[in-house]
Amino acid sequence: MSKFYITTPIYYVNDKPHIGHTYTTVAADVLARYHRQKNDEVFFLTGTDEHGSKIARSAQKAGLSEQKFADKQTKLYQKYWSELLISNDAFVRTTDPIHEKIAGEFFTQLKKAKTPKDNLALYEKNYEGLYCVGCEAYKKESDLEDGKCPDHKIEPEKVSEKNWFFKLSDFEDVLKKKIGLDEIKIMPEGRKNEVLGFLASGLEDIAATRSKVDWGIRVPFDETQTIYVWMEALINYISALGWPDGEKFEQFWPADLHLMAKDILKFHAIIWPAMLIALEMPLPKVVFAHGYFTINGEKMSKTVGNVISPADLINKFGAESTRYLLLSQFPLGSDGDISMEKLKEKYESDLSNGIGNLISRVLNLVEKNFDGKIPHPVKSPKDLSVIGAMLEEGKTYEALVKIQSVVTWANQYIDKKKVWELVKTKKDEAGVILGGLVELIIDLGNALMPFMPETSQKIIKLATAEKIVKGEGLFPRIE
Ligand code: MSP
Repeated sequence: MSKFYITTPIYYVNDKPHIGHTYTTVAADVLARYHRQKNDEVFFLTGTDEHGSKIARSAQKAGLSEQKFADKQTKLYQKYWSELLISNDAFVRTTDPIHEKIAGEFFTQLKKAKTPKDNLALYEKNYEGLYCVGCEAYKKESDLEDGKCPDHKIEPEKVSEKNWFFKLSDFEDVLKKKIGLDEIKIMPEGRKNEVLGFLASGLEDIAATRSKVDWGIRVPFDETQTIYVWMEALINYISALGWPDGEKFEQFWPADLHLMAKDILKFHAIIWPAMLIALEMPLPKVVFAHGYFTINGEKMSKTVGNVISPADLINKFGAESTRYLLLSQFPLGSDGDISMEKLKEKYESDLSNGIGNLISRVLNLVEKNFDGKIPHPVKSPKDLSVIGAMLEEGKTYEALVKIQSVVTWANQYIDKKKVWELVKTKKDEAGVILGGLVELIIDLGNALMPFMPETSQKIIKLATAEKIVKGEGLFPRIE
C-alpha cells in the first residue's frame, strides 16, 4: 500500500471563499478520493492563512479583532468545503496554537542552519524596499507596471526596517539541479521551464521576518520581529503533520503533491524547498501549478462585480454537479475562462442529456421489457481503465472527457441499434446489448466516484439492484 499526501494552498481569510478557491479544493479532493479508491493511505490537507498585514487591515475594516475576523471567515471555508463534500483529513489554521509553536520551532532551527554554500541561513540586515500588501511580498521596481503591482493594481508601500534575512541566493544551484532532475517535479512541464528560467535570472535573499507587522508569530529568538507570513504559511504543510516527531509526519512527509494555481508557484517551488533543504528535510515530490481562470473574459474582482461564490454554484447546480462542472471546463494545467452560462451548457450536455439520459434510457428499457432483471450478464462493451492512469497524472479534465466520450458512444449505440424496437423484434439481441450497457453504467459510476461521490453511489445502486427500475432523474433540469 502506498501513501499519498496532497495539499491545497491555505487560503487568505481576507477574502470570502470564491470559485477560484473552490476549483483548487475540488481538484485536490478528486485526486484524494481517487487515491483512496485505489486503497492508498491518503492524507489530504487544506486550511486557512490568517496572519499578516492584509488580514489585519481587513479585520480593522470589518471592525473586528483579527482573531474574531479570522474565525468568522474560516467558518465560511469550512461550511462550503463540507457542502461540497471535500474530504480533507485535516484543516489547518495558522492561528492554531500548534501551528504557531511549530512555525517558531522551525525558525529556531533555521537560525542554526547552514546554506549549501556553508553560510548561515538567517542573517540580520537593514532593509528598504517596496512591499505589496496584496501579494504579501517585496517587489522590485522592474516587477511594477506604472509604479503599481500588476496583480493588485496598487502602489507598493515603502518599507524600511531591520529584519532577519533568509539567504535564498545560496540555494540557486541546488534548486536548479533538483528541479532539473525532477527530484522536485514541477508540473506541467511548461511551468518547470518557467521556474528554471526564473532561477537562471538569479535569486535574491528575502526578508524572513517583519518588525512592523504585529499580527503574526513572534520570532522566538527576536521579540522585535514576527515571521514573514509566506514562510510561516508554507510551514503549514508540516505543522499539520506534527513536525518534527509526530506520527503523521513520519508517515506522510514528504508531500506527494502540492496543488495550487500558478500565481503562487514560486513560493512553493523555490522558497519552500530552500527552507526544507536548509533543515535537511525531504522535499515535496510534485508541485503542480494549475492555470488561472477569468470569469466572462475578465479577471475576477469585486470591482468588476464578477466574483462567483461557492453558494452561487451550489444553489444553481447542486454540490456534486458543481464539482463535475468546474473540472470539466479545461485541463487542470491550462488557463481558461469560466462563466455561469458555460457551466449551465455543460450541465445540460454532459449531465442531463449525457449521463442522466443514458442511465434513464437503459434502466427504463430493462424495467419495462425484462421485468427489471438483466437478461444476459455480459461484459461492458467499453474499457474505462485508462481513466485511472489519467488521474494518476492529475488529468481530471481528460478523465471527464473520456467518460463523456463513452457516454456519447453509448447513447448513439442505443439510437443506431434502435434498442426500443429491438426489444420487440429481437428480444435476445436487445438483452445482450442492455446487459452490456448496465455493466458500462456500473463502470461509469466507479469512474465518476472521485468526482461525484454520492451521485455515483446512486448510479451503482440503481444499476446493481436486484430489480432494476428507472428511478427518478439524477440531474433535474435547471432554469
Ligand atoms: N495564502 C496564500 C497561500 C499560502 S499556501 C502556503 C494565498 N491564498 S489565496 O487565498 O490568495 O489563494 C490563492 C489560490 O487560490 C491560488 O493558488 C488558487 O489555488 C486559487 N485561486 C484563486 N483564484 C483563482 C483563479 N481565478 N483561477 C484559478 N485558481 C484560483 O495565495
